[in-house]
Amino acid sequence: MLDFIGNKKRTHYCGEITSLNLNEEITLMGWVHRRRDLGGLIFIDMRDVSGIVQIVFNPENENILDKAHKLRNEYVFAVTGKVINRVGKNINKKMNTGEVEIDATEVLIFNDSQPLPVQVNENILADEDLRLTYRYLDLRREKLQKIMRMRHEIVFAIREFLVKRRFMEIETPILMKSTPEGARDYLVPSRIHQGKFFALPQSPQIYKQLLMIGGFDRYFQIARCFRDEDLRADRQPEFTQLDLEMSFVTQEEIFEIMEELFGYVYKKIINIELPKKFPRLTYNEAMNRFGSDKPDTRFGMEFCDLSEILSKSEFKVFSSALSANGSVRCIVAPGCAGYSRKKIDELTNIAKHLGAKGLAFCKLKDDELSAGITKFLSEKEKKEIIESSNARNGDLILFGADKNKIVYKVLDGIRRHLGKELKLYNENEFKFVWITDFPLFEYDEEKKIWETAHHMFTLPKEEHMEYFNDEKNWGKIEGQLYDLVCNGLELSSGSIRCHRWDVQKKIFDVMGFTEEELQDKFGFFLEALKFGTPPHGGIAPGIDRIVMQMAKAESIRDVIAFPKTLKAVDLMSQAPAHVSDVQLKELSIKTDILKKE
Ligand code: AMO
Ligand code: AMP
Repeated sequence: MLDFIGNKKRTHYCGEITSLNLNEEITLMGWVHRRRDLGGLIFIDMRDVSGIVQIVFNPENENILDKAHKLRNEYVFAVTGKVINRVGKNINKKMNTGEVEIDATEVLIFNDSQPLPVQVNENILADEDLRLTYRYLDLRREKLQKIMRMRHEIVFAIREFLVKRRFMEIETPILMKSTPEGARDYLVPSRIHQGKFFALPQSPQIYKQLLMIGGFDRYFQIARCFRDEDLRADRQPEFTQLDLEMSFVTQEEIFEIMEELFGYVYKKIINIELPKKFPRLTYNEAMNRFGSDKPDTRFGMEFCDLSEILSKSEFKVFSSALSANGSVRCIVAPGCAGYSRKKIDELTNIAKHLGAKGLAFCKLKDDELSAGITKFLSEKEKKEIIESSNARNGDLILFGADKNKIVYKVLDGIRRHLGKELKLYNENEFKFVWITDFPLFEYDEEKKIWETAHHMFTLPKEEHMEYFNDEKNWGKIEGQLYDLVCNGLELSSGSIRCHRWDVQKKIFDVMGFTEEELQDKFGFFLEALKFGTPPHGGIAPGIDRIVMQMAKAESIRDVIAFPKTLKAVDLMSQAPAHVSDVQLKELSIKTDILKKE
């Protein structure tokens, strides 16, 4: 027989009972975390949101013994009893509540539980798919409880910080118009206007700019964003941004506010003192030194451009890369000259996976290059490679030769891999860096069109405005764009926006929108820019990624209460799912694949 709660009132939380509560009569409510039956004596670890405390059922209390025998793992119960001291070896130093226990005098069993398909006890971790199917049980695990609490505290600290600085929290629509913004939209069919669709926002970008036009000066929102894109370890189809925007603001002021905000949150939540100012790298510097616009700056192993030194190289791999307008660069793996063939093959495979044709190498021993491609190099080239790469005896030099884009990608991947493998950095460090001066446009060789490299609403640099007049110069136009990167992960992205419609229109023109497309997709926005738009700019830190780093979670799924898998599926509710014929008919939607599975 199960009990109802009746008038029973909880007086305390399990994890907070200490010797300060000695001899108090208390009532707790929670779950059976673990039970031990030592013949006559039954011990139960009782768990609630705050932690665990030990309950002891003494055989002398006959009236509750029957109930104590019934309690099994994950049963939900209330216990009333007296807080008593544990003595001698019974004290458990590992538990916050380990110096006391509750001598039970009354028990109510609210609910039983079937044997669990996934264990709440962290020692036995089920396969992730099974845990996602029973996510509500997995959420009972201490690790996930801690992460979700930290996430709540981070968001609370962000709100606290911003509200004090005159930011106002405003919600923007979830059902909006589909406007091109980089990724694919999730679409929502309209029933009332058949054949028409809403889109879910990829970010509140246009709305936050409209709020500046609407006169709100400083806006923020903990905003849900939706992107139908290929997923990775740090990407989810729906994720959360701290979206913010300010009027009458410069890039410098945005950097200052963000440095203060991150400083405040890291200190408050994990007691880490971040530097008052974060270092900065221009996009070009970041690419040249690390081959990435999100470099992990916790360790060196910077790139060295050997294109000039090797401009007359007779080694075909190098000469063909250089004659195709590419480059030859190297990185130095410290102390790795002893790497076996097998180890080097492993690295070569990673390089190939990233698009390289191979991974040339040399070893530096006794001030001489040896092994690998050494035989293809002249004495002069060898000497200059050693000098400019700063390699030391015992190091391994790894070369990338190809189009710049590939060399960057490959050596960046190898650098990250070795940084981790060789433990070149302290896992507990947070190295923030601003990446600035991004190009505004990139030419897509395949599609033969110009696209915005980052963000189509960004103000070009004033001194680059004249480049718009000649397509030859479009690639040189830089925008007031910036990313905030930490330990090799892009945490935030933002820009100073076009507040003038004529400049915004120039950008849309480069992107090749016809007048009709422009009116259809952005007409309302271009018009809004004509009614006294203040200069404005903003940024959007990804909350999930911030929590992931602060909590040292391995996957973004660990920081979201109900995440999707890498295949964009919710295993628990089995979404996405088929819908009924009636629903489809209401929307006038007919397709061949609806019933196939
Ligand atoms: P952007 O597209 O760069 O900029 O996104 C900003 C930040 O959001 C996070 N993020 C993601 N997190 C998890 N899963 C994803 N799929 C995902 N995509 C992005 C990242 C990223 O740095 N409107 C602009 C911001 C602005 O200019 O103000 C924007 O959305 O941490
Ligand atoms: P190969 O001449 O193809 O036998 O290559 C000689 C060496 O150069 C091998 O170690 C290859 O892994 C390496 N290699 C081949 N192509 C490239 C490339 N594009 N970049 C760097 N190394 C390469």
